[in-house]
Amino acid sequence: MLYINNLTKNYGSFTAVNHLTLHIPEGDLFGFVGPNGAGKTTTIRIVCGLLRASSGLVVIGDSEAPVGSREMKRMIGYVPDFFGVYDNLKVREYMDMYGSMYGMYSRDIAKLSDDLLELVNLSDKKDVYVDTLSRGMKQRLCVARALLHNPKLLILDEPSSGLDPRARVEMKELLKNLHSMGKTIVISSHILSELSEMCTSIGIMNRGQLVTAGRIEDIMQQLSGGKRIHVQVISDMEAAVRFLKEQANVRVESVRENEIIISGGGTDEEVSALIGRLIQNEVVLTGFYKEEGNLESLFMQLTGGGEEQ
Ligand SMILES: Nc1ncnc2c1ncn2[C@@H]1O[C@H](COP(=O)(O)OP(=O)(O)OP(=O)(O)O)[C@@H](O)[C@H]1O
Ligand SMILES: [Mg+2]
Repeated sequence: MLYINNLTKNYGSFTAVNHLTLHIPEGDLFGFVGPNGAGKTTTIRIVCGLLRASSGLVVIGDSEAPVGSREMKRMIGYVPDFFGVYDNLKVREYMDMYGSMYGMYSRDIAKLSDDLLELVNLSDKKDVYVDTLSRGMKQRLCVARALLHNPKLLILDEPSSGLDPRARVEMKELLKNLHSMGKTIVISSHILSELSEMCTSIGIMNRGQLVTAGRIEDIMQQLSGGKRIHVQVISDMEAAVRFLKEQANVRVESVRENEIIISGGGTDEEVSALIGRLIQNEVVLTGFYKEEGNLESLFMQLTGGGEEQ
């Protein structure tokens, strides 16, 4: 659905996006994660045709329309990271204004606005001034507006920033809902764990480059590859250590009283077979557990914990 090929953006001598290549398939809910200054907004603005790339290519669907063309803009619904100020404009008028900007008939706008405002749970705010809405409501209104022209691809730049926990959950539910309705969605965030619960795949960006990208399960697997396993034994400790050291894909990290910490072990099936062999070897196990993968620590590791200043 979205192909980004070798995309680079320079601001003078500073490279904000550095040879970024990324493919987001149709129907994905893709999370774009990175610390401040990673280049997420720059990439998104280029994809939306609001900023010119220094080099590289962006293709949406099988369209040959160039970035920034009217045809390509029609395929995208964009929710920016700022809302803007709308003096004396009511929610209904705000939707009308954007609908007419997309060249829609007022009859269609009115019908669709009603449906979309219901979808984002703002039906009772139609006659309220936009500027008086809470931040969470403004974000949801922005999503409704971005869906007016029925885009193939919805791109949201940090839609949850500044929202309280409840509003975050509501935003997450809204995006999951839109995803289940078949929309391809790209969402950026600083917070990996927030995206991991709802996204089907993620890309991690740091200092203008893509550090890793893929299905969420694969990224988690990558993380669990380095995960440690605690093997708790009451007897026979020595035999257990000897046995574990003999296993090809296991490394004994440390041995404590009644506990051996190992890494490796392979897939879940292989780990399960390992438990079986330990028991067959008459090792008396009292516990066997994998350390939980911590997504934020993976993120810090992958991005060097660093922020580009
Ligand atoms: N107009 C500009 N002129 C010069 N440098 C810029 C400009 N816009 C962005 N940058 C720089 O490009 C880098 C990437 O910025 P960008 O806004 O894309 O990051 P981001 O990942 O969206 O960060 P954040 O999480 O803070 O929103 C930053 O170092 C920023 O200072
Ligand atoms: Mg940004």
